[in-house]
Amino acid sequence: MYTKSIVRSGLVSLVLVLGASGVSVAMAAETVSAAKAPESISDAKTAGPVSGYDFLQKETQQMQDDDFLNPGMQWVESGKDMFNNLQGENGKTCASCHGKDGSKLDPKRIARYPVFNETLGKPVTLQGQVNTCWTKRLGHHQLPYDSEGPLKLEVFVHNLARGEKVNVQADGPMKPYYERGETIYRTRAGQLDMACSVCHDHNAGKKIRGNTLSQGQANGYPAYRLKHGSVAGLHSTFNECYRLFRASEMPPGNDDYTALEVYVTARGNGLAIETPGVRF
Ligand code: HEC
Ligand code: HEC
Repeated sequence: MYTKSIVRSGLVSLVLVLGASGVSVAMAAETVSAAKAPESISDAKTAGPVSGYDFLQKETQQMQDDDFLNPGMQWVESGKDMFNNLQGENGKTCASCHGKDGSKLDPKRIARYPVFNETLGKPVTLQGQVNTCWTKRLGHHQLPYDSEGPLKLEVFVHNLARGEKVNVQADGPMKPYYERGETIYRTRAGQLDMACSVCHDHNAGKKIRGNTLSQGQANGYPAYRLKHGSVAGLHSTFNECYRLFRASEMPPGNDDYTALEVYVTARGNGLAIETPGVRF
């Protein structure tokens, strides 16, 4: 069930049904006027990048802050276990090359992902790099992007950079991908004729059923999602958003989602990495 009603004059009024789980998010009751935006919205729009954390309810923030309460930390632990102990065809582990517990990985470099990969001639996401090492350096079979194994490893590796500032290149060889990502971000699609920017730029700060629409930043990802009871990857979350406005989804890991990740992460440059974030 959904209603579509977007008035071009800047009035947005819609009812959204959140995902397949049937949790409905009613934004319909409220009408957002672009001309006279509530203070919280204009704040969220002008304050520069703001983490999704700042839009969370207190209890969720507390859960993220406390490593004993944050359910995502279990994923970090099992990712660490895989990293140190899971042997590839050649008897090596991730730790054989990157040190026990990833001691030889540089958090500042991790904070730069997605990065331009000269060999591939295109950007590679952190999970993409993990998956490349998984297959090329350990000889494992490829696992689906955003599936449990790669996510555990990505959460572990990204957590090594927790507190570092997101620092993604948007110029040089990354520029065309950043621009492609921005185009996707601003292109209206789906039965509700929406774009990422409609919710996360123009309506950030708006209350929906006790939760608040954030800027759609990526610094908490992969994040523990309370409604799924598991960690979700960024590309799967893009799909969740596309489902919100009844647009077609794309396979996680594809080039368009990599470009979208380049744009979404770079627009959050300077935010502290929170992985694993806790989100509803
Ligand atoms: C045989 C050695 C080897 C093994 C085993 C290995 N890697 Fe790598 N890894 C590399 C090399 C070399 C690079 C540099 C980029 C490249 O050439 O792919 C790299 C790059 C990386 C990076 C990016 C680091 C940076 O500073 O940009 C991450 C993250 C990473 N590997 C994670 C893993 C994980 C997770 C595993 C286990 C699934 C793993 N690697 C297994 C050799 C290895
Ligand atoms: C109809 C409104 C809507 C649209 C359009 C939309 N999203 Fe979202 N998005 C949400 C809601 C609701 C959430 C969960 C609450 C929040 O963080 O805003 C969310 C969360 C996110 C998050 C996680 C933020 C965090 O800190 O946990 C990201 C990233 C994101 N969206 C990206 C996108 C991208 C990219 C697009 C375009 C493909 C998009 N969204 C389109 C409503 C939308």
